[in-house]
Amino acid sequence: MLIKSLSMKNFRVYEHAALRFGEQTNILFGENGAGKTTVLEAIHCLAYTRSFKTHLDSELIRYETTEARIGGNFRGDKKNDQRVEMSLSEKQPKQIKVNGALLTSQAGLIGRIPLVCLAPEDSVVTVGAPADRRRFFDKLFSQVDTVYLTALQQYNRVLKQRNAHLNDFAVNGTPVNSELLLALDTQVVKQGAIIQQKRAEYVQKFKSFVYQIYLELEKDKTFKAAYIPAVKVKPGESVEQAFQRELEASRPADMRRGTTTTGIQRDLFLFYLNHQDIRRYGSMGEHKLALVALKFAEGRFLEDYLTEKPIYLLDDLFAELDIKRSVQIIQSLPEGYQVFITSTDLADLRRHGLEIESENLTVFDTGKLRDVAA
Ligand SMILES: Nc1ncnc2c1ncn2[C@@H]1O[C@H](COP(=O)(O)OP(=O)(O)O)[C@@H](O)[C@H]1O
Ligand SMILES: [Mg+2]
Repeated sequence: MLIKSLSMKNFRVYEHAALRFGEQTNILFGENGAGKTTVLEAIHCLAYTRSFKTHLDSELIRYETTEARIGGNFRGDKKNDQRVEMSLSEKQPKQIKVNGALLTSQAGLIGRIPLVCLAPEDSVVTVGAPADRRRFFDKLFSQVDTVYLTALQQYNRVLKQRNAHLNDFAVNGTPVNSELLLALDTQVVKQGAIIQQKRAEYVQKFKSFVYQIYLELEKDKTFKAAYIPAVKVKPGESVEQAFQRELEASRPADMRRGTTTTGIQRDLFLFYLNHQDIRRYGSMGEHKLALVALKFAEGRFLEDYLTEKPIYLLDDLFAELDIKRSVQIIQSLPEGYQVFITSTDLADLRRHGLEIESENLTVFDTGKLRDVAA
């Protein structure tokens, strides 16, 4: 997949801008605040219907204006073109159009434009709480499997109801409606078992990619990933039976605590560097390198399932990395893919091993992109 061109109107700092991108590496350079990340944000919005920096669409609308608009022309690996447009307004919900047709659900865009984004905000994937890692994998698996996405949405909806019910009992002493609770439990078990099985299967696949990539980046250390479901399946039991058994067993505790204490919302995804939990023991550089490996693995995973090459957005890639690691990353940068890299100066990129003069490179002086009429 390629993005051939992008236009922005009243999108953050851009009043008007129109860009044509190169098919391989695109460098966006410029001082802090020049608008580099914003270009990546716009591309991300077109692929995922939202920014990677904020959940609030209104933040994307340029100060003192009320409407923003972005549009991109994409070309698939099979030379199939698609145009995606997004309009944001303070007054109405955002609108997304694909080839001129209004998208009725945001799920409609899922998996259409495979894109991997590595930004400073992603550091939570390795340093953050278990929920941050679940989010990373859920987002990835949802893009290649709509059954996964639907099961997850239903699970979360039912879990919320169940917890509200339990909480009402624990806090206010409202009697539990056991019929309702049983009905909710049936759904929790059904959807939860689907998710748990799919997580196990996809993590297996993901591991094969990430181990290989990590090895390319760093030969002297071993990187491992593990999926530890909260619900433990005993020999001879199906995942569904195990879920049912554990949910029943934890019912008294759930009622006491006013929440659901077992299930996929308690699953752990762990990363180990040289057999140590990276979250506790990793240095800044080790975290960054692991994150790069995870993101590149995300790309291969998407490509494998969607049979479409992803676009890579790499924001402030080299922050926290020494020259040796950066050079290694540059060398392992996926070839034959469209990649976007931001940097505050070109000399820095050169120092980090990038051949700026290469003809495969398109360089943008970001500060000069503003006010180019679309
Ligand atoms: N809604 C907005 N309206 C106008 N300017 C904004 C808005 N949101 C952010 N900005 C400004 O846009 C500028 C560019 O931000 P960004 O793209 O993150 O820069 P860079 O990545 O080059 O450092 C910043 O100066 C920021 O203050
Ligand atoms: Mg930035």
